[in-house]
Amino acid sequence: MNTKILKITENNIDEDLINEAINVIKNGGLVAFPTETVYGLGANGFDQWAAEKIFIAKGRPQDNPLILHVSSIEQVGELVREIPKVAIECIERFWPGPLTILLKKSDKIPSIITAGLDTVAIRMPEHKIALELISGSNTPIAAPSANTSGRPSPTSAKHVIEDLMGKVDIIIDGGDTGIGLESTVLDLSGETPMILRPGGVTKEDLIKIIPNIEVDFAIIKEDENIVPKSPGQKYRHYAPKSEMVVYSGDVENIVRAILEKTEEYISGGKNVGIICTDETKEFYKDGIVISMGTRKDEKTIAHNLFNILRLFDEKNVDIILSEGVDFSFLGVAIMNRMMKASGGKIIEV
Ligand code: TXA
Ligand code: MG
Repeated sequence: MNTKILKITENNIDEDLINEAINVIKNGGLVAFPTETVYGLGANGFDQWAAEKIFIAKGRPQDNPLILHVSSIEQVGELVREIPKVAIECIERFWPGPLTILLKKSDKIPSIITAGLDTVAIRMPEHKIALELISGSNTPIAAPSANTSGRPSPTSAKHVIEDLMGKVDIIIDGGDTGIGLESTVLDLSGETPMILRPGGVTKEDLIKIIPNIEVDFAIIKEDENIVPKSPGQKYRHYAPKSEMVVYSGDVENIVRAILEKTEEYISGGKNVGIICTDETKEFYKDGIVISMGTRKDEKTIAHNLFNILRLFDEKNVDIILSEGVDFSFLGVAIMNRMMKASGGKIIEV
């Protein structure tokens, strides 16, 4: 397939180019587009055959459901059986933004979208290109992250091109994404409101509206006996080609542990990659050292993490030793992605 790349600027959207993308969605094709979290791979959410193409292009297991993206709150009505009060409160507070809400699905949604489940995931992205694409197409857009299944989610058009060139109709290049991690997935379909995937909207944000909110334990602990409630969380994700180990705890202890391990690996003839932070970079003299951002503002770390994981795939390293961050606020989402990337190899120091 011939993939067309359309360069569109968020703050000055070229009408001809966005209309070209809209027509592809209307005709059942695939369009990769930027959102504020990561790039999505979009298709008409009411078109079963278009949705099927998404799974094929990504190599995605059919039992992993897709998020429907809307451009207005009114659009939610026909997608769900009912909207509980708490969902309305969350929508009013956090949309558009990085919060995906699970509700009981209506009969209008093809079962391929929800992988046969009776709930549907919905979100309104905070990105002008995404919103115009959705409203112009006049349909909710089904979109998983626009990566090959198992690779880190794309935070730039370059990443999408690496994974999906020749497999989709259009890739919209709208620059780097802001947040850099996928949205928070919040289940409001049952008795207990529960975070199934941590993201840019944190538990600390949500607890103000939902005092009884719970967190799926599988988010923070990799254990084969715990089955995650969100199908996507059960797959090994974001896996770099080389082995990765994450060190968690007091920063001083983290640095000491990574320095010790680096020496050990290097004297054993191994090439070491180190993922550190601006505050600790100066301590590492050996190996390929890349900072993910500053501990004073974890948004910088979230923004860079997936790009760094992809960068290390291009470098010749045998092992990646990564600093961890605290399990609070945005740190929970960062550590969840690191846990997936390392296959659960998080060492407490
Ligand atoms: O930020 C994001 O959410 C990005 C952008 C493109 O919007 N999208 C994204 O989609 O990350 P995806 O497909 O890579 O991740 C969606 C997650 C998966 O873990 C999936 O299993 C879960 O949401 N999910 C979707 N529908 C669900 C459902 N009905 N029940 C439980 N989990 C669901
Ligand atoms: Mg994904």
